[in-house]
Amino acid sequence: MFSARPAPEHSARKRLISHVYSKSYIQSSTAAAAQSQTIIFDRFLPIIEASVAESQKPHGVDIYSIFMAATMDFIAAYIFGLGKGTNFLGNKAYREHFLELYRARNDYGYYDQEMPRLTKFCRRVGIPLCPKWVDGANKELGEWCLGLCAKMGHVFDSDCPSQAEPPDQPTVWDALVGGLRKEAARNGQASVLYPTALSNRELSVASELFDHVLAGQETAGLTLSYLCWRLSQSLELQAQLRAELLSLSPNMQLDGNGTPSVPDPKQLDSLPLLHAVLMETLRRHPPIPGAQPRQTPDSGCRIGPYAVPGGVRVAASAYALHRDEAIFPEPEKWDHTRWLPWAADESQLKERNRQFWAFSSGGRMCIGSNFAMHQMKLMIAAIYSNYTTHIVDDEGMERQSDGYTGRPEHEQLFLRFEKVG
Ligand code: HEM
Repeated sequence: MFSARPAPEHSARKRLISHVYSKSYIQSSTAAAAQSQTIIFDRFLPIIEASVAESQKPHGVDIYSIFMAATMDFIAAYIFGLGKGTNFLGNKAYREHFLELYRARNDYGYYDQEMPRLTKFCRRVGIPLCPKWVDGANKELGEWCLGLCAKMGHVFDSDCPSQAEPPDQPTVWDALVGGLRKEAARNGQASVLYPTALSNRELSVASELFDHVLAGQETAGLTLSYLCWRLSQSLELQAQLRAELLSLSPNMQLDGNGTPSVPDPKQLDSLPLLHAVLMETLRRHPPIPGAQPRQTPDSGCRIGPYAVPGGVRVAASAYALHRDEAIFPEPEKWDHTRWLPWAADESQLKERNRQFWAFSSGGRMCIGSNFAMHQMKLMIAAIYSNYTTHIVDDEGMERQSDGYTGRPEHEQLFLRFEKVG
């Protein structure tokens, strides 16, 4: 989907799965609720709790790596089910290895993306345009995703929809594979979604899901890191947020009398301060600040005052849109009050929401935006219902890299957690 250039192919793919990523579907999904319950209460909070126990550890914990693990576990569980998804939170050594592989290829996407034929040719004749170890890292990551898919069985003769209990329900897999099977029954080999060779069908599904796990992990992990960094700069704001979070019923406070449950998703979504701090973080630190390319239609088009011929690549960027002073005064300042209904008037809020572009907009808009917002709100609620956070080492957080994705310079953030009474 992500790389399908023709609009009909792109939207045919998107239609197969977009319903399971809609807000209403996620909010009423028993699978998503059960998976969140395990990831937050059995995997994530015990790590934080252990860090408090050793708390007087002067170096704190690297929350950046922990968030990258949690966001991978969330999206992998929603796609493959909890049991067949990942456990990055529980396997620090593997996740560090994975993140290293992922980092290795970060700076080398250019040639494959912009000059795929030349790059392939050069590789074939032994003049690689990027280091061999980058190819190695890409290969290992690809095989890792194929391994996840292989656990699900063959795409066209496995049990689908699966009969698993809610935690193990593979929501996205069922939608994608079930949708492809229906499509194949309707259109046979003529379908654009349905490669003829069997091995290509498996690859096509794996390739789609590879995009979801990678797109879903890093972006949300970055946002959570920047949000906790901002909140860690104000104990007063943390206290206001905690008061709001404890108004949930049930709330996420660990009170020693058994495991609390995840809150009602609609109630969580209606908390104005939680929403405001998250929106402002996505505005000021968009995980994808860089240019998002589009190609003008063959017949050409008008963009503002310009007539642009067909087949031209144009781009817009969240970085630029989020720094428009007319809509976001003092745009460099992280100021969550821009999003509070009682601090900004209705027309300002409308304009700000219209200009907000962290997830892009239109037909190519992020398919995972509702999923991401929900899991990030749950994670922030779990933390600030129970702890205060304090910066131990935030070197490099100020310098968000200038690229398609915007990472903090050192890709780490050490925080200390303190339990609140
Ligand atoms: C904070 C979290 C996230 C941010 C900021 C984000 C941002 C974006 C942006 C800006 C795009 C548009 C790219 C373009 O226009 O070329 C996009 C597309 C996409 N995102 Fe996300 N994303 C997030 C989370 C997720 C999650 C959780 C998933 C999991 C499914 C996901 C999957 C995708 C996919 C598959 C596309 C391609 C959509 C298409 O081509 O129609 N993203 N995302």
